[in-house]
Amino acid sequence: MSTNEKPSKKPGEVETTGHVWDSNLQEYNNPLPRWWLWGFYATVVFAIVYWILFPAWPIGGTFTKGLNTITFMDDGEEVTTHWNTRSLLARDMQTGRHAVRQREMLDRVGDMEYEEILADVDAMSFVNAYAKGSFGTWCAACHQTGGAGVIGQYPNLRNDQWKWGGTVAQIEETLVLGRNGYMPGYRESLNSEQLDQVASYVLAMNDYDLDADAVAAGEEIFNGYLGGCYQCHGVDAQGLASLGAPNLSNNIWGLVDVPGAADDEERVSRVASFVHDGVQRVMPGFADRLSETEIKVLTAYVHSLGGGQ
Ligand code: HEC
Ligand code: HEC
Repeated sequence: MSTNEKPSKKPGEVETTGHVWDSNLQEYNNPLPRWWLWGFYATVVFAIVYWILFPAWPIGGTFTKGLNTITFMDDGEEVTTHWNTRSLLARDMQTGRHAVRQREMLDRVGDMEYEEILADVDAMSFVNAYAKGSFGTWCAACHQTGGAGVIGQYPNLRNDQWKWGGTVAQIEETLVLGRNGYMPGYRESLNSEQLDQVASYVLAMNDYDLDADAVAAGEEIFNGYLGGCYQCHGVDAQGLASLGAPNLSNNIWGLVDVPGAADDEERVSRVASFVHDGVQRVMPGFADRLSETEIKVLTAYVHSLGGGQ
């Protein structure tokens, strides 16, 4: 039940709206607190000022642009437009404290020789920070974040195995021109016994204890006419950087998953089947996608990742 008679207020009594529900439920009629009211007016004033200065209201296909402007560089030309966050970002990337410092460091590193960069703590900490980003953008899709690679597919750049050489000059050449690693398959020229023998020899060079006769026969294949492996990998199997042929005696495996094999039999069969198939892998060149300085920074970074040569 609700009645609308406003009861007359007695001194000391709180004012109510006069509505009474269920015979005894009433509603106070207090004024809004001052602070709240002024706060409310302030937000109204703020909103009006904001609408005047900044992009705010949609009108049809467009919107009110606001009186505030922003100036930034676009392709070397100064552009002034109504204030908007996209231009603000463009300006921050050109003139922000961080961006300016980054460009200064890039220019500085660009003017340095590799020996100077590698010996300069400041330059190297910049290289590490900057290259992490560009490595993520350009390289990590294949070599993985951090550069550990994928066995059998993309080389690990963190270890001491450099197929194409680990000096800064060689790494830079890899990045600029790209690389094409090729080893022919031996499916025609070696039968399965010979494949096992040459595989046994390769494994024996890495201190796996295998059948001595097979190892001896494998050594002949490796260094003889039949296999001719020495032509690319070298007589002592130390590898040949000009061909991208890896050292086969340091127990670092980039293509054959030898460490993942359960026993000698599986190790032999994995190496043998790799030699049977051969391989071809391409590392793309970046000359047309990265500036000289960016390549320099990435080269110094990759060199330091793998404890270069
Ligand atoms: C499309 C995949 C792909 C991308 C992207 C890629 N690489 Fe490679 N990279 C390869 C492959 C495959 C090889 C091995 C080539 C071979 O078999 O000789 C390789 C080889 C290399 C080597 C030589 C390793 C050695 O042992 O000598 C270096 C150094 C290298 N990449 C660095 C980079 C850097 C730095 C980037 C980014 C700018 C990059 N790669 C981007 C696939 C890629
Ligand atoms: C034409 C040059 C060439 C010849 C000949 C050659 N190789 Fe290779 N081999 C390579 C190259 C290049 C690679 C690395 C390919 C790559 O990274 O894409 C390689 C890789 C390998 C690997 C993988 C090593 C790893 O890290 O996993 C083994 C094992 C190997 N060769 C053994 C042999 C044996 C055994 C023979 C002879 C029967 C032989 N190769 C003949 C060029 C050659």
